[in-house]
Amino acid sequence: MGRETWGSRIGFILAAAGSAIGLGNVWKFPYKAGESGGAAFVLVYLLCIAFVGLSIMIAEIIMGRSTQLDMVGGFRKLSPGSPWFLAGALGIASGFVILSYYSVVGGWTLAYICKAAAFRFAAFHDPAEAGASFERFTAHPVLPVACHALFMALCMYIVARGVRGGIERWNNILMPALFLLLLALLVRGLTLPGAGEGLAFFLRPDFSKFHWGRTTLVALGHAFFSLSLGMGAMFTYGSYLSPDVNVPRASFYIVLLDTAISMLAGVAIFTAVFAMGLRPDAGPGLVFHTLPVVFTLMPGGYVFGVVFFVLLALAALTSAISLLEVVCAYFVDERRWPRRTAVLRMGTLILLLGVPAALSFGPLAGAKIFFGRTFFDFEDVLSSNYMLPFGGLLLSIFVGWVWGADRAVEACRIGNPRFRSARLWAFAIRYLAPLAVAAIILHQLEILPRVGALLAGGG
Ligand code: PHE
Repeated sequence: MGRETWGSRIGFILAAAGSAIGLGNVWKFPYKAGESGGAAFVLVYLLCIAFVGLSIMIAEIIMGRSTQLDMVGGFRKLSPGSPWFLAGALGIASGFVILSYYSVVGGWTLAYICKAAAFRFAAFHDPAEAGASFERFTAHPVLPVACHALFMALCMYIVARGVRGGIERWNNILMPALFLLLLALLVRGLTLPGAGEGLAFFLRPDFSKFHWGRTTLVALGHAFFSLSLGMGAMFTYGSYLSPDVNVPRASFYIVLLDTAISMLAGVAIFTAVFAMGLRPDAGPGLVFHTLPVVFTLMPGGYVFGVVFFVLLALAALTSAISLLEVVCAYFVDERRWPRRTAVLRMGTLILLLGVPAALSFGPLAGAKIFFGRTFFDFEDVLSSNYMLPFGGLLLSIFVGWVWGADRAVEACRIGNPRFRSARLWAFAIRYLAPLAVAAIILHQLEILPRVGALLAGGG
């Protein structure tokens, strides 16, 4: 049986952009930018995306396309008999970990679509009330688990239909829908009286909160999460590509779309928050505590409230699909399982793993047995701060030095004979990306700060 492929180039780009664009763009990016000095953070983030993110994106996709295999099989094919396949296994493990808690948040967005549609937001007069309602919901012993299961079921349904008939087809519908919904929100935000203040908050550099070392590392870590790098999502999607596609150019479009959505979401959210005289609260609170109040207060808020949570759910779903596909591709390619069997078994396993994550705000909130964290927080920190950057580090070292930048450049030339920035890319993947990522990991492990303090103390 032949391996599956994408039906069209645009189908691949939309699917990859669908993976990249998710919860990371719509709530994480705006609040991180707001917290770390606004435009100054945005600037550093854009540099990280341009120099590290884009080059790892090209590396992942080209490795997938060249091997036409899942991540473990791909590493094995390029470096037979070596332990490098473990880098692929790490990616598959990351898929498990990320999807099991990502789907919990996906479930919350489904619940909030219902709340918005049922006029529930009308009862909220300030973020404290909305916050209390959010906490009641997430602490419930059954509802968050049920929503998580529903979200996983949607995800499994789409992945079970295959690359073309499921993933590509649904992304072709969901991604344009997402752009239109975001555009509607953007126009609404910008036309509210007092929108300028929100725009200023998001785009005015505030160097007082800017911290070179820390901000750069936060920006770089977020670039990985937002672009779906370091765990094989782009690798796996790349493995369904045909040779005639120009990988560097496609990667550029994917990165551009992801970045554009982050910026548009930031503007749409902060203009609305400021116009309604609310504070740009941090973290998950921004979306679930503050925005329901914004929608209650603003003209046409009912419609935009529903629109917003539909948008968030779609964005989360198209990312979740790519996470499940990474896991399933391994069982389909390496273990020869039929796709449906792989989806059913692995989807169910991830669903079960997500149950303690879904209960982390209620019955299991006190069970901080994972390095002092709840299961949800533990999975989040483990994957975003360690697994993804480490996966990206291994991949860039592999492509730059083991497979070899020259061979990788040749592979890119198959669909792009000129590849004008080949030398720049080879430099980035051999030196820039591994060094930058190694710096994040050392910082996370608190090794760099200690060395810094030691040097400062010694000097
Ligand atoms: N990029 C997705 C987001 O921004 C999350 C994700 C990470 C998806 C890693 C797949 C792989 O929400």
